[in-house]
Amino acid sequence: MSDSSEALETSPAPKRRGILLVVDDEEGPRMSLKVIFKDTYDMLMAEDGLKAIELAQQHDIDVAILDIRMAGMSGIEVLERLRMVRPDLEAIMITAFETTDTIRQALRLRACDYINKPFDIATIRSAVGQAMQRRVSESEIHNSAEKVHELLAELQNQRVEEQIAKTRGDIYASIIHDINGPLTVISGFVQLLNKKLTADEKLEPEGVEFVKERLRIIERQVGNCIEISRRYLGFLHRQTDSSAQHAGVNQLLRDLEQLVRVHPSLQDNEFKLTPFVGDINVRINGIDLIQILLNLAVNAFQCTPVPHCVEIGGEVLAAPLNLALFKDGPNDRLLNVESMENTVPMVKLWVRDTGPGIPSEILPKIFDRFFTTKGSSQGTGLGLNIVQRLIKEGRGALHVHTQRNEGTTFTIYLPGTNLLK
Ligand SMILES: Nc1ncnc2c1ncn2[C@@H]1O[C@H](COP(=O)(O)OP(=O)(O)OP(=O)(O)O)[C@@H](O)[C@H]1O
Ligand SMILES: [Mg+2]
Repeated sequence: MSDSSEALETSPAPKRRGILLVVDDEEGPRMSLKVIFKDTYDMLMAEDGLKAIELAQQHDIDVAILDIRMAGMSGIEVLERLRMVRPDLEAIMITAFETTDTIRQALRLRACDYINKPFDIATIRSAVGQAMQRRVSESEIHNSAEKVHELLAELQNQRVEEQIAKTRGDIYASIIHDINGPLTVISGFVQLLNKKLTADEKLEPEGVEFVKERLRIIERQVGNCIEISRRYLGFLHRQTDSSAQHAGVNQLLRDLEQLVRVHPSLQDNEFKLTPFVGDINVRINGIDLIQILLNLAVNAFQCTPVPHCVEIGGEVLAAPLNLALFKDGPNDRLLNVESMENTVPMVKLWVRDTGPGIPSEILPKIFDRFFTTKGSSQGTGLGLNIVQRLIKEGRGALHVHTQRNEGTTFTIYLPGTNLLK
């Protein structure tokens, strides 16, 4: 028992016997063909065209031997009909009366061989054998092609799975990176409250107000953390909250200012934020825009330990960007042009610093994942990568201009909507 099942597993799948159809209205030749081939192939016998077609509908015939001259439907007509049911079968025509016209018709119907009656056994054996071999080769090619297709599909699936896993990894990394900002703020305020509550045994009304104000900021930052993770995880589950896709830019700038003013990287640096003269809705999720600007601002603060100035501002553009004016070079790079929606109104926002600038040799790398010059304990090298991705999702573009010893400006262009009064 175990021997036979092993044999089944290891030996190649048994080849099926070919199916041979004989169509002849005379019994004599039918019978002699049956005798010749019955031990080699599965035989189907038809005395007329109708029976032949019926059999072809029921069986996957490999080779058909057809007599041309038959009462009723001729062999040529039968072949024509058989081709409709089994377009790939091999046909061998047999006749006693050969005319060029019937040969031509048979060839048109892709008959592979043409044998005269009376036939000798060797000739018919060789003709059928060759036809069967062609069928086997064809079906092997077909099976191989199918296998290649299956393999390709499997490979594609694997790639998709890998892509999903990579996206998942990216998203978790992004959550950790982006939540870090609000968490730093929260932890700073908790320390501050701790100090205050330890120092003042009894809180005066201003003290209570001080605590309440800090608690409100903490609450807001906790809300931000939740919103950030919800957004990223929502993306992971292919959900997008379309209602959150429009945001008034000046309210966002006010929220951002609150975050920046208490951010530890502010230190002794100067920070200026100028709101838009007229407000506008920007077509991007508000939390995304805050994350973009906060990442850029934190980078700007951290670009040198020497106190310097960081400025955030913006304006509404009434004309699309003239992309011909942007040239990538040692001091400039423009990103996301291919996916940007270059329409009006366009919201332009910049984050400018008076730091040391970005060396031209590292400028092409700063948007790469995990590229950092800050050392692994200080930076993950994810900030600008996230910035670029969020701007891309918002169908915007990003330009960086830098000048050694003068500073760097990151400019964001995003589609806007509905100018508010
Ligand atoms: N305003 C800037 N001035 C000078 N260099 C900059 C500035 N912004 C970014 N860079 C350079 O680009 C690199 C990549 O920035 P990115 O924000 O991606 O990562 P990071 O700031 O190093 O780490 P993380 O954002 O995770 O804290 C920085 O390490 C820095 O070398
Ligand atoms: Mg950064």
